Amino acid sequence: MEILVTGGAGYIGSHMVAMLDELRHQVVTLDDLSCGYRDAVLAGDFVNGSLHDKDTLNNVFSQHRFDAVIHFAGLIAVGESVRDPAKYYQNNLGGTLNLLDAMRTHEVNQLVFSSTAAIFGIPEYIPIDEKHPQAPINPYGMTKWMTEKILRDYDAAYGLRSVALRYFNAAGAAPDASLGERHNPETHLIPLALRAAIGDLPALTVFGTDYDTPDGTCIRDYIHIQDLCTAHVLALKHLGSGGESRAYNLGNGQGYSVKEVIDVASRVCGISVPVKFGPRREGDPPRLVADASKIRQDWGWKPRYSELKEIVEHAWAWEVKCHK
Ligand code: UFG
Repeated sequence: MEILVTGGAGYIGSHMVAMLDELRHQVVTLDDLSCGYRDAVLAGDFVNGSLHDKDTLNNVFSQHRFDAVIHFAGLIAVGESVRDPAKYYQNNLGGTLNLLDAMRTHEVNQLVFSSTAAIFGIPEYIPIDEKHPQAPINPYGMTKWMTEKILRDYDAAYGLRSVALRYFNAAGAAPDASLGERHNPETHLIPLALRAAIGDLPALTVFGTDYDTPDGTCIRDYIHIQDLCTAHVLALKHLGSGGESRAYNLGNGQGYSVKEVIDVASRVCGISVPVKFGPRREGDPPRLVADASKIRQDWGWKPRYSELKEIVEHAWAWEVKCHK
């Protein structure tokens, strides 16, 4: 297959490009490098361009005959989305609409879309299945929720079929440390804990210890980046064989508290992660854990790296490599 990956220079996109290449697909990455890194694109063709640039989009689609698009390009910082919602709506919704226009013009009708657990807002029950009410509490979550709605309308009206994968906490790195997490600024727990252990940060701040959870810290469902990418490959197969539009929750189904993650990180590094305790971070739900039984049943998806220790080990190997 020939596949366009938007945001292929980012954390998840770059792992996806490498996996598609291993599976012998032809890959084209479209990324404006606003958040991604050119050297993270290890395979295929690379186009430096934005979804806001309709000419570039049209050129890319004219030069290739894509079977499908995997759409990662988008802004992901929850806090920033609250401070600057216009940026999020313009980028995540505006950019996506341009992409969908180009797909329609060039008759590409299969899309895998990066959605998020943030579309559910504050959970009413745990684990979160696909029937859980959707009530995003920040503009970032709203952009993803609205895109899912748009995709449903585009399928009904234009026959553009899609799979939306709602990621819980993407984590880890390529097992051979060829790729890993590189956000700027980094806000995610696991890389920050490891950087505190390695000495790049004086200490990790734990955001809140008074949550209604067993140890008072937030619980999240960490899913290995490779397992997340595998789900996209299954989504491509589904769409390629004429499958209908779907949306799936994607996580391991097991929750770990911030303190548990720190303990695992300390054991993996062999260094006690230096920690300080701070107030809650605004907009953090106390618990987010996926019920991913639907994608397991429908497609036989099964995480290969379901142990948090393995996820952190791979992230650690990557951090050590970057630190050198
Ligand atoms: N945390 C800390 N200290 C830090 C960083 C994080 O205590 O320095 C805590 C957070 O408060 C949270 C947990 O660690 O409880 C995980 O935080 P991350 O920032 O790693 O991940 P989030 O759960 O906030 O974010 C993820 C995705 C987002 C998505 C969100 C949905 O990365 O894209 O889930 O709520 F929007």
